[in-house]
Amino acid sequence: MMDGAEGYTVRKSMEILVALGDIYGAESLIDIGSVQVSGVSYSNLGDAGLEFLDELAKDGKVRVLTTLNPAGMDLENWQQLGISPEFAEKQNLVIKAFEKMGILVSCTCTPYLIGNLPLYGEHIAWSESSAVTFANSVIGARTNKEGGPSALAAAFVGKTPCYGLHLDEKRIPDIHVQVKAEFTKLSDWGALGYAIAKKAENKIPYITGIKKADLDELKSFCASVVTYGAKPLFYIRGITPGSEEQAEPKETVLIDQVDIKNAYDNINDPVTRIELVCIGCPHCSINEIAKAAELIKGRRIAEGTEFWVATSRSAKQLADKRGYSAIIEEAGGKFACDTCMAVAPLKGRFKSLATTSAKGCFYSRQNLMKTKMGSVEECVEAAVTGKWSS
Ligand code: F3S
Repeated sequence: MMDGAEGYTVRKSMEILVALGDIYGAESLIDIGSVQVSGVSYSNLGDAGLEFLDELAKDGKVRVLTTLNPAGMDLENWQQLGISPEFAEKQNLVIKAFEKMGILVSCTCTPYLIGNLPLYGEHIAWSESSAVTFANSVIGARTNKEGGPSALAAAFVGKTPCYGLHLDEKRIPDIHVQVKAEFTKLSDWGALGYAIAKKAENKIPYITGIKKADLDELKSFCASVVTYGAKPLFYIRGITPGSEEQAEPKETVLIDQVDIKNAYDNINDPVTRIELVCIGCPHCSINEIAKAAELIKGRRIAEGTEFWVATSRSAKQLADKRGYSAIIEEAGGKFACDTCMAVAPLKGRFKSLATTSAKGCFYSRQNLMKTKMGSVEECVEAAVTGKWSS
């Protein structure tokens, strides 16, 4: 492979994987079960990125199930989201290159909800931080937080260097986080992720004091805790796999209601008028779409405000069948399939955002928006009034 016997792309990929392995002291490459590739939005790739992908697509074919992160637009209804034809043309070229490589054009950051669901203990090479954290912590699969190119390289070779979170000894938690706080809404999990990340810094938290957590809450927590600085692996005692086998680390920190409030204070900006409301970071599950539909039924999105539901195309198709999409669209809401508020080219277009997601706030600030984080109820209220009220 290194000598080029299997073509240009495999040789290039091996060069990347071997270089990474050397840097991190990997002793071998290991087989992987699947890959999730980030770096799909033309907004982030630009022409240089597109050229790089075209080059790889000439003879590169993936060897394992490979799914794609969100792109810079809804691949079908991009006009509806105000995307320019010039951007759409470039984005479609990016997608074509990925398609040519044999990658599933899934365009979602929740690949585990649409069929790319690894097994417990399986080695994978994923490169979307929230999905990496979910795979490591909630599923118990094993992956480092790959970059776009290293994930692609792993897909072309079917292997990844064995270091970091692939190894038992690197998956041992190193800080005990005692949680003494109440959670009443989805966004509280984003606030918890923020609070833990700030106290655990670049460590693996072992979390106690949480009695229950559903899939959407864990999904939201995964996105937040890694965005704000923790390692992409945590254990919640009694909830996530492997937590019973791990010992409580000696170093202990406490998270209480004051920390949760501080997290909201840090994530929220002083803004009242809301121009964009976006739920679905990470991409909405069907349950989240159902809830939004229930809340918005019979109401109308305010003039001058947009309401986006970011989700995978598969979840949208299910929502179509169950009638949720019609309810949301009748109210004036829009589906943002295949994309999200962070990777769509939104800089300068909206001045303010309301969302359920701590990660969504982090990236929207980079897109120069003022942010508010709250429950789905508060977000729907902001969408129909154009204002944040609490
Ligand atoms: Fe997904 Fe975009 Fe959030 S990629 S995790 S919806 S920032």
